[in-house]
Amino acid sequence: MKILILNGPNLNLLGKREPGIYGSRGFLDYYEELRERYPEIEFDYYQSNIEGEMINKIHEVGFSWDGIVLNAGAYTHTSVALQDAIRGINTPVVEVHISNVHTREEFRHKSMISCACLGVICGFGLDSYRLGVEALIAHKG
Ligand code: DQA
Repeated sequence: MKILILNGPNLNLLGKREPGIYGSRGFLDYYEELRERYPEIEFDYYQSNIEGEMINKIHEVGFSWDGIVLNAGAYTHTSVALQDAIRGINTPVVEVHISNVHTREEFRHKSMISCACLGVICGFGLDSYRLGVEALIAHKG
């Protein structure tokens, strides 16, 4: 199985950014652990602060890879273009969030991308990504 982990804006700052909400662990450290846990899966990791670059990456893998675990950061709440990109590909996408967005500000309660995704996982810290991988494995069957 080939799975892309795709992180959006400000997620390059994980570990430094609002640690009370997002924790104090950098993403690359967590990503290594994830790869070790699933040696049979081929992972790629891509992070961008730029919406169009995220869309290009979705197009690049979206007709041949088995799944995308997507944390679109704040674009989750705004981006029709990301919704269209997800709708436009064949590869299933699981939307993930580190924090429980439903316990936070009201503007975070609305996702523009959920309706195009296989499902949504939020609120489990970095473990949300592993749960996203498990969802893709179960979906593939
Ligand atoms: C986030 C939640 C978003 O509302 C926020 O803009 C982020 C991170 C999360 O992982 O909890 O950047 O997607």
